[in-house]
Amino acid sequence: MEEKRFARATWQIMEQLLEVNDLVEALSGSLEIIVRELNSEAGAIWFLDRKTDRLFPVFHIGPVDISNISIENGSGIEGLVTKTGKSIRIEDAAADPRFDSSVFDDSGLTTRTMLCVPLNNLHDIIGCVQVINKKDGSSYDGEELQLCERMASLAAITVDEKGLIVNAEEKKEVLIRLKGVVKEYPSGDSVLRVLKGVNLDIYQGEFVVILGESGCGKSTLVNIIAGMDVMTDGELYVEGKNFSHPSDHELTTFRREYLGFVFQNYNLMPNLTALENVQFIADIARRPMKAADAIAKVGLSDRANNYPSMLSGGQQQRVSIARAIVKNPKVIFADEPTAALDYQTSIEVLTVFEEIVKTQASTVVMITHNPEIARMADRVIKLRSGLVFSIKKNPHPARAAELVW
Ligand SMILES: Nc1ncnc2c1ncn2[C@@H]1O[C@H](COP(=O)(O)OP(=O)(O)O)[C@@H](O)[C@H]1O
Ligand SMILES: [Mg+2]
Repeated sequence: MEEKRFARATWQIMEQLLEVNDLVEALSGSLEIIVRELNSEAGAIWFLDRKTDRLFPVFHIGPVDISNISIENGSGIEGLVTKTGKSIRIEDAAADPRFDSSVFDDSGLTTRTMLCVPLNNLHDIIGCVQVINKKDGSSYDGEELQLCERMASLAAITVDEKGLIVNAEEKKEVLIRLKGVVKEYPSGDSVLRVLKGVNLDIYQGEFVVILGESGCGKSTLVNIIAGMDVMTDGELYVEGKNFSHPSDHELTTFRREYLGFVFQNYNLMPNLTALENVQFIADIARRPMKAADAIAKVGLSDRANNYPSMLSGGQQQRVSIARAIVKNPKVIFADEPTAALDYQTSIEVLTVFEEIVKTQASTVVMITHNPEIARMADRVIKLRSGLVFSIKKNPHPARAAELVW
């Protein structure tokens, strides 16, 4: 029975590693299979950066956000595995002298049992893969360790060296932190729990994509971060300051000075020209750029005096992006900004976002249900039924022009 189950998992992992060109993508898919098969609470893939001799998580599954953590090669279980190239199985963390604590423990998930295996390139150890705890409370056994090792060696024979170079990452500054965010709606006699305890950090200057199927809570989450909706329970921090229960005044200031929005349905004022739509927002902002400059940034200078009805969907969306960036906001939220657009126009709009991320200091948080768009992001947050399912870093984000769907 066990043999058969793992045979299927091994086969699925082989498919992942053979079919996908992108290394992180292939490994993430493989870890997802392992976490599912072993009924794990969490899992992570760590890459070793040779320059700093530290391990960075490129992908993790589970309820806590460990994106900003790095470990010295040789220290902790993860570092030991990467240093020595030998797997470690911790049956009972509390009773195991090798176990001190784990990065997951620091983030709020107590490790009871763990598997950690080295990730081998053909020539070198490039990091490690780990899984933490089992949902049924049991401990990892030797067979389960073998499955992880099999994945690691499959990775070694299929993966080509070129994809394995990881850039050193400086620790990024946390702009917004969510802790245990819950959102419920009354539904008849009971409640509908839409967000079930979301833990997530958003960093200064990053391009984050929040990916998930329709109805999983993406818009609800972003509306809460953006102060357009209130959470039922949990905590929200903005630049370290507790912003869980802001006053109306604080909220207005926060929205006006901090945030830019782009929605699926442009929401332009029909009786104002493109430029006037942008100017209107610039007038109420504290440190705006010139409206004409914002229009130029989205490539619409020659259309500045057109009314929305004279513009195509893609052009209208670009006006709404200009309106979002004119405030010089710290964060731009874009909720399915290309959902109403055809492929070609979507790429044009995404190219504008790409430019913004490159040239402005703004953080961009984009919601989408299109996994292809996620390839552009620095970090991809996968949301599943009201919880963060996984977080992946793209060591080499794709250009908008490379996306195909
Ligand atoms: N105001 C509301 N009242 C009741 N239920 C809501 C409300 N807003 C959203 N929901 C429900 O919450 C769930 C998540 O919605 P949403 O955040 O819009 O999902 P997504 O953006 O991922 O498609 C859905 O089941 C939706 O029906
Ligand atoms: Mg939505």
